[in-house]
Amino acid sequence: MAEPVVLDPEIGYVDVPIDPSLDLIAEINRLRKEKNAIILAHYYQEPIIQDLADYIGDSLGLSRKAAETDADLIVFAGVHFMAETAKILNPDKKVVIPDLNAGCSLADSCPADAFAAFKAQYPDHIVVSYINCSAAVKALSDIICTSSNAEHIIRQIPPEQPIIFAPDRNLGRYLIRKTGRDMVLWDGVCIVHETFSEKKILQLKARYPDALVLAHPECEEAVLQHADFIGSTSAIRRFARESPHTTFIVATEEGILHQMRKDCPEKTFIPAPPDNGCNCSQCPHMRLHTLEKLYLALRYEQPEITMDEELRQRALRPILRMLEMSRDIR
Ligand code: 13P
Ligand code: SF4
Repeated sequence: MAEPVVLDPEIGYVDVPIDPSLDLIAEINRLRKEKNAIILAHYYQEPIIQDLADYIGDSLGLSRKAAETDADLIVFAGVHFMAETAKILNPDKKVVIPDLNAGCSLADSCPADAFAAFKAQYPDHIVVSYINCSAAVKALSDIICTSSNAEHIIRQIPPEQPIIFAPDRNLGRYLIRKTGRDMVLWDGVCIVHETFSEKKILQLKARYPDALVLAHPECEEAVLQHADFIGSTSAIRRFARESPHTTFIVATEEGILHQMRKDCPEKTFIPAPPDNGCNCSQCPHMRLHTLEKLYLALRYEQPEITMDEELRQRALRPILRMLEMSRDIR
């Protein structure tokens, strides 16, 4: 049973003082067992949260895990659309997120009402939406995809069927190039991936001539053109693990480097620098979660993700379609 606490919606996380002598990791382990809770975390979480998670993965892996879990409580250390997807798949379970303010610039770049008006201009098109969007945009979509399965899904759509792809224009352009499909794109972008600097990547390549560049498809075309491998976070991690190469320049949020270094301590991983005067490439939304907020979310079972049932059912259909269409993707 959760202890009662009133969550201030203005703050968006449980703001209760924690006894500094408390061993938070031991407490999290005790509470997760007592409550039959599962902690799901994305690779962009800080290392201490990644190390505590029951499962860590990319958006597809996290959706699959959320769909199959028998936990009573899901604590989602990822951004809002990820926790929302877990709720859509699990209406009878409690889903909490350490900080409700953990949004996503890409999801925010596609408001549902503007997207509905955009979609109305193309009545013959089907809508494939990247999972980085709100439940309301999912409800306007025919199929959801992630960076792991997007190409696989687009290739299953009959060639004569016109497609709208939303909200990420960089992933959309990459898919057009890969599949030859002429899709209508929503003009959305991720604030983290759009800022990687082509110039600084070229300078790193000159300094480490044997290094391979691994990039997420949300990066701009100018960066992707220098990539030796393009894929989701899990695919980037797997590629580095299985590659005979030993040095990699990694163009995605730097949280992924934690697992890559654990997988291959003998290899060298260099984060691609952004072009914004700051030398880190951390997602400010993902990084709102802290060990303290995670502990409080688990203890007080707040902030909780809730959703209108009619919206949930409409958003569920394209997610189930994605899971069905990508059964053979690892
Ligand atoms: P992945 O599904 O590749 O982990 O991507 C999630 C994301 O938000 C990338 O910015
Ligand atoms: Fe959204 Fe970009 Fe952060 Fe991923 S890295 S959660 S796309 S803002």
